[in-house]
Amino acid sequence: MRETPLKIGIIGIGGFALAHHRVILELEQKGLLKLICTCDIYLDMMQETIKELKFEERGVRIFESYLEMIENFKNHLDLITIPSPIHLHGEMHSECVKRGLPVYLEKPPTLDYQELLKMIEIDSSAKKQTNVGFNFVVQKARQKIKERILSGEFGKIKKITFIGMWPRPASYFKRSPWAGRLILDNKLVLDSCFGNAISHYVHNILFWAGRNGIFSWDPVKTVEAELYKAHNIQGTDTVFVLASTENVPDIRIAMTHACIEKTPDIEKIHCEKATIYFEGNARTDEGTGINCQICWHDGKKEVIAEPNGNLLLENILHYANYVTGKEPRPLTKLLDTEPFVMLNSLLYIGARKIYEIPQNYKHVSYDANGETYIEIEKIRKVLEEFIETSSFPSMQKINWGKKGGKASREQVRNLNKIVRMMLK
Ligand SMILES: NC(=O)c1ccc[n+]([C@@H]2O[C@H](COP(=O)([O-])OP(=O)(O)OC[C@H]3O[C@@H](n4cnc5c(N)ncnc54)[C@H](O)[C@@H]3O)[C@@H](O)[C@H]2O)c1
Repeated sequence: MRETPLKIGIIGIGGFALAHHRVILELEQKGLLKLICTCDIYLDMMQETIKELKFEERGVRIFESYLEMIENFKNHLDLITIPSPIHLHGEMHSECVKRGLPVYLEKPPTLDYQELLKMIEIDSSAKKQTNVGFNFVVQKARQKIKERILSGEFGKIKKITFIGMWPRPASYFKRSPWAGRLILDNKLVLDSCFGNAISHYVHNILFWAGRNGIFSWDPVKTVEAELYKAHNIQGTDTVFVLASTENVPDIRIAMTHACIEKTPDIEKIHCEKATIYFEGNARTDEGTGINCQICWHDGKKEVIAEPNGNLLLENILHYANYVTGKEPRPLTKLLDTEPFVMLNSLLYIGARKIYEIPQNYKHVSYDANGETYIEIEKIRKVLEEFIETSSFPSMQKINWGKKGGKASREQVRNLNKIVRMMLK
């Protein structure tokens, strides 16, 4: 029998690592977990947070180097979380697994497909499999709908669509050296709305499509894409994708950070007998919740509404329960993210170029805090038309649209070469 509470370490203190610290403090107060060590390369900038989180009183050891931390604590930790920059995940995951540590790795696992394959291989020898922190898989109502899809109740899935409009100010791309980058320190980063901030929903779409049990994500077959950028970054901030998977012939995803208005994140699953509108993060009076409407083609309508708990807390707790044997598997294993990383890779291989939005189609505005936002002219209409008719911007009557292209999975080996060509 293990002693409780489980001893945990966190790599990182600021950025999203702070969200990990906050939920782990909550779990510590409930006697379920105990933070024993943490680290950050920018410790001097973390002093306020270090005080707020009361590390000294809680007896938490702080390191500058994550390697020094895991080397010192490998025999004391029950698990570790890695909420660090994306391009460092591969190395950090490998060093932790080598030392026998169960890993809760933030999403996305990596956006370098070849690196993902190596990580999957490394994980196959891990004592406990790694979990990738895609937050929404934990939702029981989501799992229930997936079960009903698998039972055939709604008929076959014909199409899945999603629009993600997530405004991000110019400062978002300056918060960390890797933000908005294709490559940093000679490593693929591929940070974008699709690969990072809104990636949860791409993983969710592939979850709906997966046929092999509730926890399955469907392999991607082909991808057609156009990529644009309105911000002054290396990568893309506006993405249009048509994809097919083994199970679903028509997946349409359009996302942007170059907007002012945030729209609800609704996953639309068009089946033979019904259309399912699944909003996993709907605003409610109490916080957020699930708002799912099933519109049957015979006119019946079902509504499922339930509040969300703290999804990050539930995800970390689920992994802790997997480590102690109370749960049979992590919610998302590294291997389960292959379809997502493949899809993200094929965007670049298909599109081949990221086109800049000309100045005269960009509108700049400032919010009350002085943050600068860039919006592409009529972006909502362009995204909606794409979702409705599958006409890429290059096929719509707008002047900035430029033709992209198609790719299929065997071309994934060209990812590195093509991304490097994009920089020329
Ligand atoms: N699940 C979610 O909803 C969600 C939300 C936001 C971010 N994320 C994910 O969290 C991860 C971190 O993103 P972020 O924007 O917070 O990144 P970030 O650049 O802010 O880094 C997070 C922290 O890690 C520290 N750090 C950087 N390099 C380090 C190193 N070598 N050793 C130790 N610490 C180091 C940074 O100083 C920072 O404090 C990414 O994978 C991102 O996609 C997930």
